[in-house]
Amino acid sequence: MKLRRILKWSARVILLALVLAFLVGFIAYWKSTNDCDRKTALVSPMKAIVYCEYGSPEVLKFEDVEKPVPNDDQVLIKVRAASLNFIDPGLMRGPWPLRLMSGLRKPEKTMLGNDLAGQVEAVGKNVTLFKVGDEVFGVGRPTLAQYACTRERGLVIKPANVTFEQAGCVAWAGFTALQGLRQGNIRPGQKVLINGATGGVGTFAVQIAKSFGADVTAVCSTGKVDLVRSIGADHVIDYTKEDFTKGDQRYDVIFDNVNNHSFSDRRRVLAPNGICIIAGIGGAGLHPEAWGRIAGIFKAGLLARFVPQKFVRYGTKLDKEDLKLLSDLMQTGKMTPVIDRTYKLSETAEAMRYFEEGHARGKVVIAVEQGNEL
Ligand SMILES: NC(=O)c1ccc[n+]([C@@H]2O[C@H](COP(=O)([O-])OP(=O)(O)OC[C@H]3O[C@@H](n4cnc5c(N)ncnc54)[C@H](OP(=O)(O)O)[C@@H]3O)[C@@H](O)[C@H]2O)c1
Repeated sequence: MKLRRILKWSARVILLALVLAFLVGFIAYWKSTNDCDRKTALVSPMKAIVYCEYGSPEVLKFEDVEKPVPNDDQVLIKVRAASLNFIDPGLMRGPWPLRLMSGLRKPEKTMLGNDLAGQVEAVGKNVTLFKVGDEVFGVGRPTLAQYACTRERGLVIKPANVTFEQAGCVAWAGFTALQGLRQGNIRPGQKVLINGATGGVGTFAVQIAKSFGADVTAVCSTGKVDLVRSIGADHVIDYTKEDFTKGDQRYDVIFDNVNNHSFSDRRRVLAPNGICIIAGIGGAGLHPEAWGRIAGIFKAGLLARFVPQKFVRYGTKLDKEDLKLLSDLMQTGKMTPVIDRTYKLSETAEAMRYFEEGHARGKVVIAVEQGNEL
């Protein structure tokens, strides 16, 4: 009798909690909005890419918005180039898990872009490292615009031997490659395999691994064999003809940008104390294989607890010292950004369509038109 009463009340409490959760979610969903609904007259307009709704690249509009004003700690950059990164299609399309942070019904932040190169236009009063006119590159947010504000720690001076387009696509893809490879403690002569060697991250990873003195094997599709050889790969495996996990070679480090092989298959080609660095899921956005590959990342993390080889995940982060290192690699000619296509800011929707296909040859760059170039 008592048990029945407990069960009855438990069911009521659970039902009430579910109804409350539904109501809170419903209200939060409909209250979720953005500044597109509050259009005011612009004091100092600039062109930028704006998206007011989640969706396919058609939601990206080339519009006038207010030019940003730097605070005391910020640098205002006249953007000359930026690039598309893995996160941009995700923010644009708004898959549900991401919407918990980016806005349930509509994107809370309506502009995109995370890396940039350009000229310093103005500096806040606490800025000491940069002055007006300096040519810089690094990170900022949002950067798919004529002007962007960022902090000093997100910038370094652009080497003279690279163009704005080259420098503008380095930061996040370069960090992802550098910070991932660093987990492998690569020593000269070690065998490093890079799965997914020809996209934005992969083309940096090949060159950075070479700069560490590694013997690099690049995995790519048939049409990109020449590309990976041209950036220094010592060996190439065409994944349409050969599965690298079925070969006899053992690798000290696998930098896995695709994560499309099982834990045991990759383990088989890792040296006894080898390390597999899980960097990505092969291409931008949430393509059909993405969820399975994400699940595979967690599975590998769990299974790796029981074997001598390591499978590591990491989060890409802004690091000024790493930005300086990437700059030095370009200055000394050890790393040259590979640009597949360059689009104008006004053509960003078209650029995104291409990037989402997930088979770019290097980076997809957005060159930002200024003044009379518009
Ligand atoms: N960019 C960033 O800032 C960033 C930050 C954090 C994490 N990531 C991760 O890095 C990954 C790559 O990003 P990205 O910007 O370099 O993307 P991307 O430019 O679209 O490159 C995707 C790469 O995946 C390769 N690929 C696709 N299917 C493959 C397969 N079956 N076997 C081998 N290679 C395959 C493509 O080569 P083919 O064309 O030859 O197939 C291409 O090299 C993303 O999935 C993401 O998870 C990126």
